[in-house]
Amino acid sequence: LKQTKNIGLRGISVADTKITMIDGIEGRLEYRGYDIKDLAKSSSYEEVAYLLLFEDLPRRGDIVEFTERLISEREIPDAVHNHLMNRPRSAQPMDVLQSTVPMLADFDPDLLEETREANIRMGIRLISKTATIVAAWSRIRRGLSPQKPSRDLPHAANLLYMLHGREPDGETARDLDVCFVLHADHSFNASTFAARQVASTRAHMYAAITAAIGALSGELHGGANTKVMKTLLEIGEVEKVRGWVNRQLEQGRRIMGMGHAVYKTTDPRAIILKDMSERIGRRLGQTKWYEMTRLIEEETRGQILKSKRKEIYPNVDLYSASVYYMMGIDVDLYTAVFALARMAGWVSHIIEEKFAEAQPKPVMYRPEADYIGRYCGVLGCRYIPIEQR
Ligand SMILES: CC(C)(COP(=O)(O)OP(=O)(O)OC[C@H]1O[C@@H](n2cnc3c(N)ncnc32)[C@H](O)[C@@H]1OP(=O)(O)O)[C@@H](O)C(=O)NCCC(=O)NCCS
Repeated sequence: LKQTKNIGLRGISVADTKITMIDGIEGRLEYRGYDIKDLAKSSSYEEVAYLLLFEDLPRRGDIVEFTERLISEREIPDAVHNHLMNRPRSAQPMDVLQSTVPMLADFDPDLLEETREANIRMGIRLISKTATIVAAWSRIRRGLSPQKPSRDLPHAANLLYMLHGREPDGETARDLDVCFVLHADHSFNASTFAARQVASTRAHMYAAITAAIGALSGELHGGANTKVMKTLLEIGEVEKVRGWVNRQLEQGRRIMGMGHAVYKTTDPRAIILKDMSERIGRRLGQTKWYEMTRLIEEETRGQILKSKRKEIYPNVDLYSASVYYMMGIDVDLYTAVFALARMAGWVSHIIEEKFAEAQPKPVMYRPEADYIGRYCGVLGCRYIPIEQR
């Protein structure tokens, strides 16, 4: 019998899905049947979000309409803005994001309508408004006023515009767009599973997204990208990488950005991000971050192969760190940027879960655990009043 306990559900299939296919052996990733390599090369985040939500690629009229819907939802309620103004400037971006999502629910006219269409409308609002929230927070905490969202720029370019208060150049905008495509979905990862689990109780879209954001914040999941950049800044020089990796591994620590629960080969997203990191580094004359990251990859692989006889490969977070850094995004914002991109995937999974689009009927997740705690016989332990303990 397969061991299913205390292994973090690794290798256990808990549901069917029609959204994303991962082949961890071959290193393949497909959204709704389309290869991530093709999508990264030729698609856009708007098109991928449409594909995830509506199950197929849009035609020209569809994408024009969908993009317009996204743009029309960029503004955030005054109440959310006022709330941001009152937060301590030290508040973590993921905490800010996680706590403002339920505030958006307060203003959503579709909140209690349990139809696919209403959930799509909520999803579109979430995709657009959360980007505005993250960008607004990054400026407010620096004492700047938030940049109003653009009415023309694509989603990723608009994020850079709202963060920096100026339009990004075309190449940078396109690079972030590709990052968004690569992060848009990844099947039953920890945060998506959290979202689906909450959605399975018939809680609303915002409640499920809030759970997902909490799960993504951890360093073993989305939090890894910020950790990678902090590591690069801490190491500081290419020459110090090997020694640093060895010390970490000797102390039994994990190297962030390396390893994956599903891929047993290179994460196809990491291949694309690695090239991107190198290209941006060359363009800016800052190849140091790329070089250091490449060495972390090489050294970690070599050491783990030697000590554990196991192959370990880079994941999506290893090279995205230097890419975001060179785009001028604050280091502690990377996980929130990941969350913004993943929004389309989460929304699609919540809808699939709620409306049983890949299973016969909706079922609430409710696993069991074997009790191994205190036991005093069939009558239970004798309760002693507090004065007598
Ligand atoms: C993502 C992650 C949680 C997957 O974990 P996992 O499913 O347990 O991975 P594996 O089963 O392949 O791990 C096998 C072994 O390699 C080790 N390992 C895995 N990732 C490692 C890492 N990044 N650094 C050091 N050792 C690592 C594990 O400790 C384990 O060793 P053990 O058998 O002696 O306990 C893990 O690789 C990790 O912690 N990575 C760093 C965080 C990260 O980058 N997260 C983003 C993921 S997209």
